[in-house]
Amino acid sequence: MPTLKLGFFASGGGSNVQAILDAIESGRLDAEARIIISNNSKAYVLERARIAGVPFAHISSKTHDDEQVALIQALQTAGAEIVVLAGYMKKISPELIRSFDGRVLNIHPALLPKFGGKGMYGMNVHKAVIEAGEKVSGPTIHLVNEKYDAGRILAQREVPVLPNDSPETLAARVLEAEHIIYAETLRKIALGEIVI
Ligand code: GRF
Repeated sequence: MPTLKLGFFASGGGSNVQAILDAIESGRLDAEARIIISNNSKAYVLERARIAGVPFAHISSKTHDDEQVALIQALQTAGAEIVVLAGYMKKISPELIRSFDGRVLNIHPALLPKFGGKGMYGMNVHKAVIEAGEKVSGPTIHLVNEKYDAGRILAQREVPVLPNDSPETLAARVLEAEHIIYAETLRKIALGEIVI
């Protein structure tokens, strides 16, 4: 199987991107990080790119008249073939999804299809899980389509919801599982065990 060529979109700290960069560095994942893009010029994920020597770009509706065209061009120029969303807070256009033949992945911090959809991000998700009295939660890796969090599910990893959990303590436990499952799912794609 050919080495995966990854383009990343992130809006925040980028710990999921870092976990994937670490898996590549350690030889666990046969992939190349071709570019890391953020819509937030202050996002720490761009600093992580700089430290790792990965090309990076700040692309947003403030920097480009047609943000979606700029995103597609940046990914194609960088030679990315799979788009990895990791804490990216903006909607992906159908044109971008089509440009990459649907090879756009996202990570959601709950067991979809439950606790997904518009407005379900960050602490809102963990709050809803606790309020619903769920006993398990965990991250989902899914393909992105034009509806929020509704694409084909590729992988999930369960973690317990503990009786005295706060949204913050649950978020931390889910995030640990995220750092395992994203690289693991990409590894299965690289090995041909998952076909997208
Ligand atoms: C993660 O919780 C992920 O589930 C959600 O955004 C967060 C990204 O965190 N999509 P980080 O920026 O990767 O640390």
